[in-house]
Amino acid sequence: MTETTEKKPFEPTIIGFTCNWCSYRAADMAGISRMKYAHNVRLIRLMCSGRLDPTFIFKAFAGGADAVLISGCHPGDCHYVNQNYKALRRFHLVTRVLEQLGIAPARLKLLWASAAEGAIFASEVTKFVEDVRALGPLNWNGAEALPEIEKEEVPA
Ligand code: FES
Repeated sequence: MTETTEKKPFEPTIIGFTCNWCSYRAADMAGISRMKYAHNVRLIRLMCSGRLDPTFIFKAFAGGADAVLISGCHPGDCHYVNQNYKALRRFHLVTRVLEQLGIAPARLKLLWASAAEGAIFASEVTKFVEDVRALGPLNWNGAEALPEIEKEEVPA
């Protein structure tokens, strides 16, 4: 019996929260246009980035995500007036909390993308995956750090 000593490169798992009207459609546009981009992001569609409760981010990390992407319409283009400004404020807040928890803030990314910006979405996601790959696996024990956060399995 032979043993393989070859190690597989680390493939990060990233949870991406996208808004229905812009960034999810940008991801769709990238797919329809057959643009190649890293397959590591599992997209979760919200109606608006303003719907993103900060606990969703912590649950993603506690469930095994190595990074989280938040994506929505450009400021001024939100279909619910100004809810993406709420997402922006939450992003800054959560970034600071992550630092306190010993999680590199670079594991959380905010990306504005309109429905027509499939190419930008694809290239930013690929860049983000490379950045997270360089950071390495997170293996955060969220249940220990934040026991009130329910652990949810991140799909492989
Ligand atoms: Fe896209 Fe609000 S509808 S961010």
